[in-house]
Amino acid sequence: MSHTASAPGKIILFGEHAVVYGRPALAIPVTQVHADVEVLDSARAGIWIHAPDVNLHAELNTLPSDHPLASVIHNFLFLFRVTPFPNLEIKISSTIPVASGLGSGAAVTVALTRALSAHLAHPMPDEEINAFAYEIEKLHHGTPSGIDNTVITYAMPVYFVKGQTIETFKVGTPFTIVIGDTGISAPTKESVGDVRKLWEADKTKWENVFDKVGEITEEARKNIESGKWELLGELMDQNHNLLQEMTVSSPELDRLVSTARSSGALGGKLSGGGRGGNMIALVNGNLAKSVAKSIREAGAKHVIITQVS
Ligand code: PMV
Repeated sequence: MSHTASAPGKIILFGEHAVVYGRPALAIPVTQVHADVEVLDSARAGIWIHAPDVNLHAELNTLPSDHPLASVIHNFLFLFRVTPFPNLEIKISSTIPVASGLGSGAAVTVALTRALSAHLAHPMPDEEINAFAYEIEKLHHGTPSGIDNTVITYAMPVYFVKGQTIETFKVGTPFTIVIGDTGISAPTKESVGDVRKLWEADKTKWENVFDKVGEITEEARKNIESGKWELLGELMDQNHNLLQEMTVSSPELDRLVSTARSSGALGGKLSGGGRGGNMIALVNGNLAKSVAKSIREAGAKHVIITQVS
Protein backbone atom coordinates (compact mmCIF):
# COMPACT_ATOMS: atom_id res chain seq x y z
CA MET A 1 0.00 0.00 0.00
CA SER A 2 1.24 3.51 -0.69
CA HIS A 3 0.08 7.09 -0.09
CA THR A 4 1.17 10.25 -1.83
CA ALA A 5 0.90 13.94 -1.03
CA SER A 6 1.97 17.11 -2.76
CA ALA A 7 2.45 20.70 -1.62
CA PRO A 8 3.01 23.83 -3.72
CA GLY A 9 5.72 26.44 -3.51
CA LYS A 10 4.85 29.95 -2.39
CA ILE A 11 5.92 33.54 -2.70
CA ILE A 12 5.40 36.50 -0.46
CA LEU A 13 3.68 39.35 -2.31
CA PHE A 14 4.04 41.98 0.42
CA GLY A 15 5.28 42.35 3.97
CA GLU A 16 8.28 40.03 4.42
CA HIS A 17 10.53 40.83 7.39
CA ALA A 18 8.03 43.32 8.84
CA VAL A 19 5.81 40.26 9.39
CA VAL A 20 8.32 38.97 11.95
CA TYR A 21 7.49 42.12 13.98
CA GLY A 22 3.72 41.69 13.94
CA ARG A 23 2.83 43.50 10.70
CA PRO A 24 0.63 41.78 8.10
CA ALA A 25 1.97 39.99 5.03
CA LEU A 26 0.35 38.58 1.89
CA ALA A 27 1.51 35.34 0.32
CA ILE A 28 0.28 33.16 -2.53
CA PRO A 29 0.83 29.54 -3.51
CA VAL A 30 2.89 28.88 -6.64
CA THR A 31 1.58 25.64 -8.08
CA GLN A 32 4.07 25.52 -10.97
CA VAL A 33 6.58 24.09 -8.49
CA HIS A 34 5.86 21.47 -5.84
CA ALA A 35 7.16 18.94 -3.35
CA ASP A 36 5.91 15.36 -3.69
CA VAL A 37 6.13 12.52 -1.20
CA GLU A 38 5.21 8.86 -1.44
CA VAL A 39 5.13 6.60 1.62
CA LEU A 40 5.06 2.82 1.03
CA ASP A 41 5.04 -0.26 3.22
CA SER A 42 8.39 -1.98 3.02
CA ALA A 43 9.61 -5.56 3.28
CA ARG A 44 12.94 -4.50 4.75
CA ALA A 45 13.43 -3.32 8.33
CA GLY A 46 13.61 0.38 9.08
CA ILE A 47 12.35 3.66 7.67
CA TRP A 48 14.22 4.31 4.47
CA ILE A 49 14.31 7.80 3.03
CA HIS A 50 15.03 8.40 -0.64
CA ALA A 51 15.50 11.99 -1.73
CA PRO A 52 17.42 11.68 -5.01
CA ASP A 53 17.39 15.48 -5.57
CA VAL A 54 19.76 15.85 -2.62
CA ASN A 55 21.40 12.46 -3.18
CA LEU A 56 20.03 11.02 0.04
CA HIS A 57 19.30 7.31 0.51
CA ALA A 58 19.42 6.52 4.20
CA GLU A 59 17.74 4.76 7.08
CA LEU A 60 16.14 7.18 9.56
CA ASN A 61 18.34 6.22 12.51
CA THR A 62 21.55 6.89 10.58
CA LEU A 63 20.58 10.55 10.12
CA PRO A 64 21.36 13.21 12.74
CA SER A 65 18.22 13.93 14.76
CA ASP A 66 18.24 17.58 13.64
CA HIS A 67 18.22 16.58 9.95
CA PRO A 68 15.18 18.38 8.43
CA LEU A 69 13.58 15.21 7.05
CA ALA A 70 14.44 13.09 10.10
CA SER A 71 12.98 15.71 12.42
CA VAL A 72 9.63 15.65 10.59
CA ILE A 73 9.43 11.85 10.81
CA HIS A 74 10.60 11.63 14.44
CA ASN A 75 8.19 14.35 15.55
CA PHE A 76 5.31 12.73 13.68
CA LEU A 77 5.97 9.30 15.22
CA PHE A 78 6.34 10.90 18.65
CA LEU A 79 3.14 12.97 18.29
CA PHE A 80 1.05 9.90 17.54
CA ARG A 81 3.07 7.58 19.81
CA VAL A 82 3.70 5.19 16.94
CA THR A 83 5.50 2.13 18.36
CA PRO A 84 7.09 -0.01 17.21
CA PHE A 85 8.29 2.01 14.21
CA PRO A 86 6.72 0.70 10.98
CA ASN A 87 8.87 -0.46 8.08
CA LEU A 88 8.56 2.18 5.38
CA GLU A 89 10.09 3.47 2.19
CA ILE A 90 9.66 7.23 1.82
CA LYS A 91 10.29 8.86 -1.56
CA ILE A 92 10.72 12.62 -1.60
CA SER A 93 11.17 14.87 -4.61
CA SER A 94 10.76 18.56 -5.20
CA THR A 95 10.89 20.97 -8.11
CA ILE A 96 11.05 23.96 -5.74
CA PRO A 97 14.47 25.66 -5.81
CA VAL A 98 16.07 25.42 -2.35
CA ALA A 99 16.82 28.48 -0.17
CA SER A 100 15.32 30.91 -2.65
CA GLY A 101 12.20 32.15 -0.88
CA LEU A 102 9.82 29.71 -2.56
CA GLY A 103 9.16 27.76 0.61
CA SER A 104 10.87 24.52 -0.35
CA GLY A 105 11.47 23.41 3.24
CA ALA A 106 7.91 24.05 4.37
CA ALA A 107 6.50 22.36 1.25
CA VAL A 108 8.52 19.19 1.88
CA THR A 109 7.44 19.23 5.53
CA VAL A 110 3.75 19.64 4.64
CA ALA A 111 3.79 16.98 1.91
CA LEU A 112 5.73 14.54 4.09
CA THR A 113 3.44 15.09 7.08
CA ARG A 114 0.32 14.60 4.95
CA ALA A 115 1.67 11.44 3.35
CA LEU A 116 2.62 9.99 6.76
CA SER A 117 -0.74 10.98 8.20
CA ALA A 118 -2.59 9.20 5.37
CA HIS A 119 -0.38 6.14 5.34
CA LEU A 120 -0.32 5.59 9.10
CA ALA A 121 -4.04 6.44 9.43
CA HIS A 122 -3.64 9.38 11.80
CA PRO A 123 -5.86 11.99 10.14
CA MET A 124 -4.71 15.59 10.53
CA PRO A 125 -6.93 18.51 9.52
CA ASP A 126 -5.20 21.46 7.82
CA GLU A 127 -5.05 23.37 11.09
CA GLU A 128 -3.07 20.58 12.70
CA ILE A 129 -0.79 20.13 9.67
CA ASN A 130 -0.09 23.85 9.81
CA ALA A 131 0.71 23.88 13.53
CA PHE A 132 2.96 20.83 13.15
CA ALA A 133 4.80 22.34 10.16
CA TYR A 134 5.31 25.56 12.12
CA GLU A 135 7.02 23.62 14.92
CA ILE A 136 9.36 22.09 12.33
CA GLU A 137 10.04 25.51 10.74
CA LYS A 138 11.02 26.83 14.17
CA LEU A 139 13.59 24.04 14.58
CA HIS A 140 15.37 25.09 11.41
CA HIS A 141 14.73 28.80 10.92
CA GLY A 142 15.16 30.48 14.28
CA THR A 143 12.18 32.83 14.63
CA PRO A 144 10.03 32.30 11.54
CA SER A 145 6.69 34.08 11.35
CA GLY A 146 4.86 30.95 10.17
CA ILE A 147 3.69 32.47 6.88
CA ASP A 148 5.39 29.80 4.73
CA ASN A 149 3.78 26.80 6.37
CA THR A 150 0.41 28.60 6.38
CA VAL A 151 0.16 29.51 2.70
CA ILE A 152 1.57 26.13 1.69
CA THR A 153 -0.77 24.16 3.94
CA TYR A 154 -3.91 25.98 2.74
CA ALA A 155 -2.68 26.44 -0.88
CA MET A 156 -4.65 29.70 -1.14
CA PRO A 157 -3.77 33.42 -1.01
CA VAL A 158 -3.23 34.24 2.64
CA TYR A 159 -3.33 37.40 4.75
CA PHE A 160 -1.23 36.71 7.75
CA VAL A 161 -0.43 38.36 11.06
CA LYS A 162 1.95 36.32 13.20
CA GLY A 163 0.24 34.64 16.11
CA GLN A 164 -3.06 36.40 15.36
CA THR A 165 -4.69 36.21 11.98
CA ILE A 166 -4.68 33.67 9.21
CA GLU A 167 -7.20 34.62 6.55
CA THR A 168 -7.54 33.41 3.04
CA PHE A 169 -8.80 36.19 0.79
CA LYS A 170 -10.46 36.63 -2.59
CA VAL A 171 -8.76 37.94 -5.69
CA GLY A 172 -11.16 40.39 -7.40
CA THR A 173 -9.60 40.09 -10.85
CA PRO A 174 -6.83 37.57 -11.65
CA PHE A 175 -3.43 39.11 -12.34
CA THR A 176 -0.03 37.96 -13.52
CA ILE A 177 3.28 37.85 -11.68
CA VAL A 178 6.69 37.02 -13.12
CA ILE A 179 9.03 35.38 -10.62
CA GLY A 180 12.77 35.59 -11.29
CA ASP A 181 15.36 33.58 -9.35
CA THR A 182 18.81 35.14 -8.87
CA GLY A 183 20.17 31.61 -8.43
CA ILE A 184 21.93 32.82 -5.30
CA SER A 185 20.97 30.73 -2.31
CA ALA A 186 20.59 32.90 0.75
CA PRO A 187 19.57 31.51 4.14
CA THR A 188 16.53 33.37 5.48
CA LYS A 189 17.86 32.88 9.00
CA GLU A 190 20.78 35.25 8.25
CA SER A 191 18.77 38.09 6.75
CA VAL A 192 16.18 37.78 9.53
CA GLY A 193 19.02 37.86 12.09
CA ASP A 194 20.57 40.94 10.48
CA VAL A 195 17.26 42.81 10.47
CA ARG A 196 16.92 41.92 14.15
CA LYS A 197 20.33 43.50 14.86
CA LEU A 198 19.24 46.70 13.11
CA TRP A 199 16.00 46.72 15.08
CA GLU A 200 17.77 46.11 18.38
CA ALA A 201 20.10 49.05 17.70
CA ASP A 202 17.27 51.51 16.92
CA LYS A 203 13.80 50.20 17.65
CA THR A 204 11.99 53.50 17.06
CA LYS A 205 13.38 53.86 13.56
CA TRP A 206 12.66 50.28 12.50
CA GLU A 207 9.20 50.07 14.06
CA ASN A 208 8.41 53.07 11.88
CA VAL A 209 9.75 51.34 8.77
CA PHE A 210 7.76 48.19 9.61
CA ASP A 211 4.64 50.35 10.05
CA LYS A 212 5.10 51.69 6.52
CA VAL A 213 5.40 48.13 5.19
CA GLY A 214 2.26 47.20 7.10
CA GLU A 215 0.31 50.08 5.51
CA ILE A 216 1.48 49.05 2.03
CA THR A 217 0.37 45.48 2.70
CA GLU A 218 -3.10 46.55 3.90
CA GLU A 219 -3.56 48.74 0.84
CA ALA A 220 -2.39 45.92 -1.43
CA ARG A 221 -4.95 43.53 0.04
CA LYS A 222 -7.76 46.04 -0.58
CA ASN A 223 -6.64 46.53 -4.17
CA ILE A 224 -6.40 42.79 -4.80
CA GLU A 225 -9.86 42.16 -3.38
CA SER A 226 -11.46 44.99 -5.34
CA GLY A 227 -9.82 43.97 -8.61
CA LYS A 228 -7.56 47.05 -8.84
CA TRP A 229 -4.47 44.94 -9.33
CA GLU A 230 -2.70 47.56 -11.52
CA LEU A 231 -2.21 49.62 -8.37
CA LEU A 232 -0.01 46.89 -6.89
CA GLY A 233 2.95 47.89 -9.08
CA GLU A 234 3.57 51.17 -7.27
CA LEU A 235 3.09 49.42 -3.91
CA MET A 236 5.66 46.76 -4.86
CA ASP A 237 8.15 49.50 -5.72
CA GLN A 238 7.59 51.16 -2.34
CA ASN A 239 7.90 47.85 -0.51
CA HIS A 240 11.15 47.09 -2.37
CA ASN A 241 12.63 50.45 -1.32
CA LEU A 242 11.88 49.68 2.32
CA LEU A 243 13.44 46.22 1.97
CA GLN A 244 16.53 47.87 0.51
CA GLU A 245 16.63 50.09 3.58
CA MET A 246 16.53 46.92 5.72
CA THR A 247 19.70 45.81 3.83
CA VAL A 248 18.08 42.61 2.56
CA SER A 249 18.24 43.35 -1.16
CA SER A 250 21.35 42.66 -3.25
CA PRO A 251 22.82 43.98 -6.51
CA GLU A 252 21.43 40.94 -8.37
CA LEU A 253 17.92 41.40 -6.98
CA ASP A 254 18.04 45.13 -7.74
CA ARG A 255 19.17 44.40 -11.29
CA LEU A 256 16.33 41.98 -11.97
CA VAL A 257 13.78 44.34 -10.43
CA SER A 258 14.94 47.31 -12.51
CA THR A 259 15.15 45.18 -15.66
CA ALA A 260 11.56 44.07 -15.10
CA ARG A 261 10.42 47.66 -14.67
CA SER A 262 12.25 48.94 -17.73
CA SER A 263 10.85 46.12 -19.85
CA GLY A 264 7.27 46.98 -19.02
CA ALA A 265 6.44 45.55 -15.60
CA LEU A 266 4.17 47.77 -13.47
CA GLY A 267 6.42 47.31 -10.45
CA GLY A 268 8.63 44.80 -8.70
CA LYS A 269 10.29 43.79 -5.48
CA LEU A 270 12.36 41.10 -3.89
CA SER A 271 10.28 38.34 -2.34
CA GLY A 272 11.07 36.43 0.84
CA GLY A 273 14.20 36.59 2.93
CA GLY A 274 16.21 38.48 0.30
CA ARG A 275 19.99 38.83 -0.32
CA GLY A 276 19.43 36.27 -3.08
CA GLY A 277 16.51 34.06 -3.95
CA ASN A 278 13.62 35.48 -5.90
CA MET A 279 12.14 38.75 -7.07
CA ILE A 280 8.64 39.27 -8.39
CA ALA A 281 7.23 41.70 -10.93
CA LEU A 282 3.64 42.65 -11.70
CA VAL A 283 2.87 42.51 -15.41
CA ASN A 284 0.03 42.88 -17.85
CA GLY A 285 -0.67 39.32 -19.04
CA ASN A 286 0.30 40.13 -22.63
CA LEU A 287 3.76 41.33 -21.52
CA ALA A 288 4.54 38.38 -19.25
CA LYS A 289 6.63 36.48 -21.79
CA SER A 290 8.70 39.46 -22.88
CA VAL A 291 9.37 40.58 -19.28
CA ALA A 292 10.33 36.98 -18.44
CA LYS A 293 12.75 36.98 -21.39
CA SER A 294 14.36 40.26 -20.30
CA ILE A 295 14.81 39.01 -16.75
CA ARG A 296 16.41 35.82 -18.05
CA GLU A 297 18.78 37.86 -20.21
CA ALA A 298 19.64 39.95 -17.15
CA GLY A 299 20.79 36.79 -15.35
CA ALA A 300 17.74 35.11 -13.77
CA LYS A 301 18.37 31.37 -13.42
CA HIS A 302 14.72 30.29 -13.33
CA VAL A 303 11.70 32.29 -14.35
CA ILE A 304 8.10 31.38 -13.53
CA ILE A 305 5.01 33.14 -14.85
CA THR A 306 2.10 32.65 -12.48
CA GLN A 307 -1.52 33.81 -12.37
CA VAL A 308 -2.86 34.95 -9.04
CA SER A 309 -6.51 34.01 -8.85
O1 PMV B 1 12.58 33.48 2.46
P1 PMV B 1 11.18 33.03 2.68
O2 PMV B 1 10.27 33.24 1.55
O3 PMV B 1 11.07 31.69 3.33
O4 PMV B 1 10.47 34.03 3.65
C1 PMV B 1 11.02 34.67 4.69
C2 PMV B 1 10.03 35.66 5.14
C3 PMV B 1 10.53 36.49 6.28
O5 PMV B 1 9.51 37.42 6.57
C4 PMV B 1 11.80 37.22 5.92
C5 PMV B 1 10.79 35.63 7.50
C6 PMV B 1 9.55 35.01 8.08
O6 PMV B 1 9.72 34.07 8.85
O7 PMV B 1 8.44 35.48 7.82
